[in-house]
Amino acid sequence: MTMLINIEDISGCEGQRVKIQGWLYAVTRKGKLIFVRLRDGTGIAQGVAYRPEVGDELFELLKRLGQESSLVVEGMVRANNRAPGIPGGFEIGIEQVTVLQEAIEYPITPKEHGVEFLMDHRHLWLRSSKQWAIMRIRTTVKRAIIDFLDSHGFANIDTPIITPSAAEGTSSLFEVNYFEEQAYLAQTGQLYNEANIMAFGKVYSFGPTFRAEKSKTRRHLTEFWMVEPEMAFYDLDDLIDFEEEFISYIVQTVLEKRRPELELLERNLDMLKNVKPPFPRISYDKALERIAAIREATDDPTLKKELQIEWGDDFGSPHETQLTQQFDKPVFVYGYPTQVKAFYMEPWPGRPEVCKSVDLLAPEGYGEITGGSERMSDPDELIAAIEKHELPMEHYQWYIDLRRFGSVQHSGFGLGLERTVAWICGVEHIRQTSPFPRSLNRMRP
Ligand code: 4AD
Ligand code: MG
Repeated sequence: MTMLINIEDISGCEGQRVKIQGWLYAVTRKGKLIFVRLRDGTGIAQGVAYRPEVGDELFELLKRLGQESSLVVEGMVRANNRAPGIPGGFEIGIEQVTVLQEAIEYPITPKEHGVEFLMDHRHLWLRSSKQWAIMRIRTTVKRAIIDFLDSHGFANIDTPIITPSAAEGTSSLFEVNYFEEQAYLAQTGQLYNEANIMAFGKVYSFGPTFRAEKSKTRRHLTEFWMVEPEMAFYDLDDLIDFEEEFISYIVQTVLEKRRPELELLERNLDMLKNVKPPFPRISYDKALERIAAIREATDDPTLKKELQIEWGDDFGSPHETQLTQQFDKPVFVYGYPTQVKAFYMEPWPGRPEVCKSVDLLAPEGYGEITGGSERMSDPDELIAAIEKHELPMEHYQWYIDLRRFGSVQHSGFGLGLERTVAWICGVEHIRQTSPFPRSLNRMRP
């Protein structure tokens, strides 16, 4: 019996006759040799057929077989350090091929296609090697997130997706008709996480999140995944220390487990190797000074205009990009103006116009990948904040209860999965990091 293997295990099969079930990715012919690239979902391997060995019939079959035909290949595994693939270094001397289905005129060919065409064919584009590599890295990032939190005493407690109220501003809410009552898709699980920590200490939610973002940027989706750790008794400094360890673990795990995929994506690995504590920590005020200095120094009138900012304004993408270019690691910016942040953030002691918030900005122009804060723990301050934001008080009574019965200092943050994967993979646009992305102008396929 020939052993059925996954391509990812090929290196342990040298000298053995194996069987691979998969799809034909590419065929090239050199005289009496045919090189095929096979993919089976776990990897990509080179198969070689030599006409005098395989016979004319099999050789002719391979020659005419269309890209993405499904097949079963049998042959001997041998080492060849020039053989391309993931993992590379081994190839299969083809002996037998069973075609399951011949694919004819597969629409995505090795020639260049426009992004809109590829997005319309997302159901097929996912098979292409780069898209496949990005998704493999995404699954590894998810696994690393869960492993890290589970091994640091966190309980994974789920939060609802249908909610009656806003947490992150009312402008990006998706409305749901909930049996004639107004409801929304969750922008965050945070408020529920805050209830959960008072029962479980340290918790996280990890799931889909919705924002009716009207912006068509390379960083925004309308449906994205967010992991939200929340910790009782943590202050802002504890939060930043924790985030630093967490992000470093994720990046180092991907480097260790998905090196071939990163290489396929031509990612600069030095930037990733550098992602280890400590990360620079600068205040909003200092960040603003740095931006002003960059603006002062530039001769580029467009950049000068883009970087215009006053104390109290939120950073836009040009500010974040210019600021992070000064560092070779992710940067924490803390102490943002209260007016640009959500209602629930703890005020800075002695400076109520500033809040105990922190964003982590990724290098290389990827912008904000986490947003978090210490939460308001005083019930009266919270009531005042809800009033100031003109939020319907009746929806927040349970949330205020958390400050009425055993209130403690606590903190948490949210990390956007797609933005993190885009940064780690070095891909230009966040849409490539979601298997079936939803954005302002797309919800198909
Ligand atoms: O900064 P945000 O809005 O924070 C919150 O929602 C907090 N309630 C989280 C918390 O403290 N538990 O979002 C957190 C992260 C951002 O840093 C970004 O990575 C991602 O979620 N994110 C988006 N990703 C893709 N598309 C969008 N439209 C996103 N909006 C936020
Ligand atoms: Mg934010």
